[in-house]
Amino acid sequence: MSSEVSNTDLIAAAAEARERAHVPFSHFQVGAALETVTGEIIKGCNIENASYGLTLCAERVAIFKAVSDGQREFSALAVVVDTDELTPPCGACRQIIWEFCGDIPVTMANLKGRVETMRMSELLPKAFDAGFLSDS
Ligand code: THU
Repeated sequence: MSSEVSNTDLIAAAAEARERAHVPFSHFQVGAALETVTGEIIKGCNIENASYGLTLCAERVAIFKAVSDGQREFSALAVVVDTDELTPPCGACRQIIWEFCGDIPVTMANLKGRVETMRMSELLPKAFDAGFLSDS
């Protein structure tokens, strides 16, 4: 666990993004904020669909927005959900975060001020990535 000053801004950005969540089915609002190495913050919220499987998680929305805008180097991610027990990224998001962000710190926070930071290598140990594709 660690805490940095810039995390406050990142958590605030994720909390702001969470307000825009489109969640008519689960009512479970999630906000994410991705920090680039140049200090930019890119936000994402979860976006659900009546065809449930098409739902996009907040983390993936933030990453795909950033990548499609030409950003490729990221230094931190914050995820805000208003649960007592802090909510970690789902398995699918962990794989996507690893692909584009590698071993970055991921801060999980709620609206009551609870905060915990874990590195991606803790959240996704023994990750599969492109390194294995060139090893066959
Ligand atoms: N959700 C996220 O946005 N991120 C996660 O890592 C976990 C799940 C969303 C997807 C869906 O809109 C709602 O939370 C309930 O699963």
